[in-house]
Formats: sequence, C-alpha cells, structure tokens
Amino acid sequence: MSSYAEKAEASKRPKVTAPKVRARKGGDKLRMVTAYDHPSAVIADRAGADIILVGDSVANVMLGHDDTLSMTVNAMIHHIAAVSRAETSALVVGDMPWLSYHTTPEEAVHNAGRFVQEGGAEAVKIEGGVKRIEAIKAILDAEIPVMGHLGLTPQSVNQMGGYRVQGRNVGPAYEMISEAKALAEIGVFSMVLEGIPAALAEIITNEVAVPTIGIGAGNVTDGQVLVYHDLLGLHNGHLPKFVRQYAKLADDAVAAMQSFFADVQSGAFPGPDETYTMDEESANLLREMTAGGGYAGLEADDLMADEAMER
Ligand code: KIV
Repeated sequence: MSSYAEKAEASKRPKVTAPKVRARKGGDKLRMVTAYDHPSAVIADRAGADIILVGDSVANVMLGHDDTLSMTVNAMIHHIAAVSRAETSALVVGDMPWLSYHTTPEEAVHNAGRFVQEGGAEAVKIEGGVKRIEAIKAILDAEIPVMGHLGLTPQSVNQMGGYRVQGRNVGPAYEMISEAKALAEIGVFSMVLEGIPAALAEIITNEVAVPTIGIGAGNVTDGQVLVYHDLLGLHNGHLPKFVRQYAKLADDAVAAMQSFFADVQSGAFPGPDETYTMDEESANLLREMTAGGGYAGLEADDLMADEAMER
C-alpha cells in the first residue's frame, strides 16, 4: 500500500474540527463512519468522511466479542493511534469504553487525556445523559471536545436487557429529550442518537442547538453514522434493520482468494511479471556447478554478494 500517496490525497480537504462540526447544525448533513485501523481510516477519509469514530464496536466487529464491555482504555488507544496515523482530514473521535468514565470525573479526564496524548484523538464520545454530566463537564474543562450518545447505548446492554429500540413510550422519550438538552447545554459539540424512533429523533434534532448524528434514528438528524464493516458488507453476520449495505466486500474477498488459490494449483501464479530473474549465463553456470559439485574455476566476480533486490 502506498500510504504516503494516500495521505497526500487525503490532505487535500481542509481539516474538520469539532467547532466546524458544531457549526454544521441544520446545514450539510454530517458524514460519519467508524474505522479501527490505518487502511480503513485512509479509505473513509478518501471517501469524504467528516468524522471517523474509532468506536468500541471494534469489540464486536473486529475482535469477535458479543458486546463492547470488554474494551479497555489501552485496547482503544491501540486502535485510535492506528487511525490517527492516517492523518485524515476527517475529525478523529475516540469512543470511551465502559468503566473509563463511570467512576470519578478525575478518572474520566485522565482516560480522555490518554486518548488525546497517546492515541491522537481529537475528541471523545461518551454514552449516556444526565448520569454522565459530571464526567463530561470535567473532560470539557480539560479542553477535550465531547460527542454525546443517547438512545440505544450498547454499554448499557445489561441494564436494557438486550439491544432494544429506546424511547418508544412517551415517558422515556420525554426523558431523553431533556437529557439531550442537558448535554447540548453543557457543551457537547454533537450527539449520536442510536436506535430510537424517527419522530423522537426529529424532536430532539429540533430542540438542541448541536448537530445530531443518527444510527437507526430515521433520516431527520443532522448527519448519519454507520459501522464500516456493516456498510461495506465485510462480514456475513447479523445486520440490524437500520443498516444499508453498499457493497458485499466479504463475498468479493472470498472470490478473489479462491482465484488466487486456483492459480496456485494450476501454476498460473506467479507469472513472468511477478517473478525475479537472473541472466541466463549465470543460471547455466549455476546449473553446471550444482551438477559438477563445486566452485572450482569461478572468477571472484561470480562470488560477489547479490545487489539489493528491487521490490
Ligand atoms: O461504537 C460504535 O460504533 C458507535 C456507533 C454505532 C455510534 O458507538
């Protein structure tokens, strides 16, 4: 992969910052996607992402877990740093994992700070509303932009009793509107609304002054986010109702690999263009030497070390 060329390509767009995202309220829809490693960040950036979320969904999507609860701060930093090294125009947001902001505001700031200092994150995302206000305030006080996340918050899977659409009943829906207002008032620069009815997402979007970014929240929000592997069809597992697959790359990958294996079997791979050569005279000499069993009579030049191979 020519990552330098791709970085140059990516850097043609002006850098997206948290204040620029904040200013997009009611404007051009925000384009957000998850990415967990360097090549996927480069691809997302080349495609025009405004925001790359290094989501804790990495646990499900890349590490084979059933939920996100096993992700640690160190494990998240490993992925955030890989994404940051792509030097994207897109804003890089690090998803704070379960228990990294639930104890004390001091610990929340410490962990968010590690995302910035060690991972290169430009903002962090935090799940939850009023219960998380103190942690969010402290992180904002440390000058780290925070993205909120309401509705179906996967880190609450055990409390919710599964991954269930939230806010379908008037009471909890009304509560969520107040939580969204509270988050906007303390200064989050945007918020994800996940797994809620479109009508509720529309009310929240109208009520808060910061952009809302939907995932399973209808098309009325200020932006949309999908998980990289879901939208590209990079797996054949279960897909939630709200996912649209824009490609079937897992099937393409299997087909490509089957072609490789078939070429290996038939001997068609590698071909002349994929093969290194030596001059015929040397090759013949080598054959004679091997057959005759020795180095006798060779000139010093013939025994010189190989020049560095050009890849
Ligand atoms: O972790 C994640 O991928 C997320 C998005 C679904 C918003 O939180």
